[in-house]
Amino acid sequence: MILKKIEQLLQEINALTADNAGQIEELRIKYLSKKGAINALMADFRDVPAEQKKEVGMKINELKTAAFAKVNALKEQFEAGNNESNHLDLTRTPYPVRLGTRHPLTIVKNEIINIFGRMGFSLAEGPEVEDDLHVFTKLNFAADHPARDMQDTFFVETNENVVRNIILRTHTSSVQARVMEKTQPPIRVICPGRVYRNEAISARAHCFFHQIEGLYIDKNVSFTDLKQVLLTFAREMFGADTKIRLRPSYFPFTEPSAEMDISCNICGGKGCAFCKHTGWVEILGCGMVDPNVLESCGIDSSVYTGYAFGLGVERITNLKYQVSDLRMFSENDVRFLDEFKSAN
Ligand code: DAH
Repeated sequence: MILKKIEQLLQEINALTADNAGQIEELRIKYLSKKGAINALMADFRDVPAEQKKEVGMKINELKTAAFAKVNALKEQFEAGNNESNHLDLTRTPYPVRLGTRHPLTIVKNEIINIFGRMGFSLAEGPEVEDDLHVFTKLNFAADHPARDMQDTFFVETNENVVRNIILRTHTSSVQARVMEKTQPPIRVICPGRVYRNEAISARAHCFFHQIEGLYIDKNVSFTDLKQVLLTFAREMFGADTKIRLRPSYFPFTEPSAEMDISCNICGGKGCAFCKHTGWVEILGCGMVDPNVLESCGIDSSVYTGYAFGLGVERITNLKYQVSDLRMFSENDVRFLDEFKSAN
């Protein structure tokens, strides 16, 4: 009878679990205190026949030892868990994540896209590996124009016997031709992209860089519209005090053509090394789209007029962030890139 009880208690005790210190203490009291279940066995022990007392006594002792061991094990388990949670810092990231940064050219490109986007320009893209037709011919470059020279242009096909018409685009103006070919006005796009020129790499020149082309074609578009859009862009990009200045220039695909300077935002126009002490910095080329270009792309030049502009993203980035060496943009030195963390 008593042996059965002992056996039952032993099973019960072995199966015990507890979630907190309070529960463990309750179990200790239930089984091991003076009024606990094990002590209660003593009442029955008195009635055990003398010849069985030794055996039963041993069993009771074993039960007690098991109960102590179980309560201690539960305590240890709970304390270990408790200690661990004391050291848990729930605010920490699970593992050290090294966040990258956006590239400065991407930051500036996105800003430019946003500014023109607010003025109603949508995005257009074209291929970097282009043909002569879209980079030069349709844009009114004369057959013997020096830009077609291998000195400036990377040719993909260099075999003298092949018509060398596959090249790396030297400017994003090629996207103008692509857009005009497949869309009738009104057209209002900007075309960001990478361009390539056969230049020796130095602090001031690189064999690839980035441009953003703008194109607006509709009825009655005038040079005044161009000027206002560029002024708005300059002020949004460099601050409300920024002044612009347009100088007559020449591009085969625009007539009239101009280059635009902005008041140097590094010295505020007073003159510094960056603006070569002139107070002005050139940032883009622009003009009214030459009627020859409209016609070669299938747009009626007696009905439509338009303007175009092209700016260098590196130039704008240099002005905004004073990066002095063009090579830094493509070296991927994380110390340089990390400088732009807050600009993201
Ligand atoms: N494509 C010219 C260049 O790479 C820049 C340019 C000038 C683009 C005048 C234009 C423009 O759209 O109208 O130097």
